[in-house]
Amino acid sequence: MPGSHPQDMDNALLLEIGAPLLVRFAALLRTARTHDVTNQAFQRQVQELLGLIGRGLEEEQEIALVAVADYFYINGVRIKAQAALLSVYHALMSEFEQRSLGGIRFLDGVNAAEFERFIQLFLAADDSGVSERLAEAIKEANIEHIVPVAAVELEEDDLTRQLEDKKDPATERGRAKRVFWRAVLGTKKIVLRAKQTGRPDLRHAKRLVQPVVDSILRHEYSIVGLTALKDHDEYTYAHCVNVSVLSISMGQVLGLSRQALADLGVAALMHDVGKIAIPAEVLQKPASLSPDEWGMIRRHPLEGVKMMIRMPGLSPLTLDSMRVCLEHHMNFDRTGYPEVKREWGQATLSRIVAVADCFDAITAHRAYHKRPRSSFEGLQHLMGPARVQFDPAVLWALVKTIGLYPAGSVLLTESGHVVLSISPNPEDLRRPNCRVLVRPDGTMEPEESGESWNPMPADQKVVRVLRPEETTVNTGEILAA
Ligand SMILES: [Fe+2]
Ligand SMILES: [Fe+2]
Repeated sequence: MPGSHPQDMDNALLLEIGAPLLVRFAALLRTARTHDVTNQAFQRQVQELLGLIGRGLEEEQEIALVAVADYFYINGVRIKAQAALLSVYHALMSEFEQRSLGGIRFLDGVNAAEFERFIQLFLAADDSGVSERLAEAIKEANIEHIVPVAAVELEEDDLTRQLEDKKDPATERGRAKRVFWRAVLGTKKIVLRAKQTGRPDLRHAKRLVQPVVDSILRHEYSIVGLTALKDHDEYTYAHCVNVSVLSISMGQVLGLSRQALADLGVAALMHDVGKIAIPAEVLQKPASLSPDEWGMIRRHPLEGVKMMIRMPGLSPLTLDSMRVCLEHHMNFDRTGYPEVKREWGQATLSRIVAVADCFDAITAHRAYHKRPRSSFEGLQHLMGPARVQFDPAVLWALVKTIGLYPAGSVLLTESGHVVLSISPNPEDLRRPNCRVLVRPDGTMEPEESGESWNPMPADQKVVRVLRPEETTVNTGEILAA
């Protein structure tokens, strides 16, 4: 991967310029949309941005801004998605996404003239047909010091090396994070390639899923906790991984073999692949859908099956994946879609994926709710009003998997501690692994290095689950750290 110098980088400097770089870049794009490049405001913004990059280039050979697995990295250092940065983060992520862009490298020698031309070409490349030629257009325009990197060119191995937790690479949580983000990045590659070829690469999917199965079979559940991280923009790919991780863990509770868990994981990872066939405007529409648009959404299970059929050589894995694609929205009480005759029965794998899918989707920040449900409210919904739609045995497996207070829940304990649930504790579903947020005397634990309960001590008891609006702590940052 170009632009990574993990050994010689100065994290402090990169951390300092990372967030302003995003802010300035987003502002520059906004200005360029409404103003001519000769405009003073635009020129001033270019100079400010160049100033920041210049500061970085004093100590680094190049500055690489890369979007990986829902986060921006500057030379391998993650730019924190603090609350104040979220709208910028979202805006830039979708700018990158629209252009299938993985990153931009700024090399020593970059100047204002190059920047102007780059921004013009960048803005012009906003439909998928043109975006593929962005790199070419930049070369043709003699821009030598700004190099776009296509998302499909990012190598997951190199990137995940950067993602590796430098503080505790040997810990279970460090390993889980690596496996998780590698899967998110790999899924993105599979989906982008499937868009070009019309079929998903299931063998690639299997390579991503295998370490998840291994981790669950070792009874390591940190990876389940990571599925609670939802406030990132590229949630679509993480959703696939979340559903896969939850399904594998539920499959283990239900006693599936290692082989069956691997197949389940792949089928779960690919459950929504048919959505590639739905226009992006419909998928991302925030308002309510027209009957026609709703019809398009309802076709994604069948579209997924059509893509699976294009896989060469029909294997049991392909068949399982087809079935999960087709059946993951058919409900246990047959109220879902596509509509089928009464005697059709949802396969076990599909029932598992249906529960994992619904749980992850209803607790997503981008779901169409006024405010997203917390993971605890999501669980209550599934076990309450929505339970008729699901196989009761599978619902039980979900509770065994995520616990009574799923990761992301903020809990008040009998002792007066406010804690954040980080990952489940299968030994006792009421006592998850936690991070202390507030001590009984009202003092806050530092966000970076608060006290951990692994798991919550046996003499503690949860007295109440707080609603998301009752806490000001950035729980997403703590879950991601
Ligand atoms: Fe779906
Ligand atoms: Fe889904």
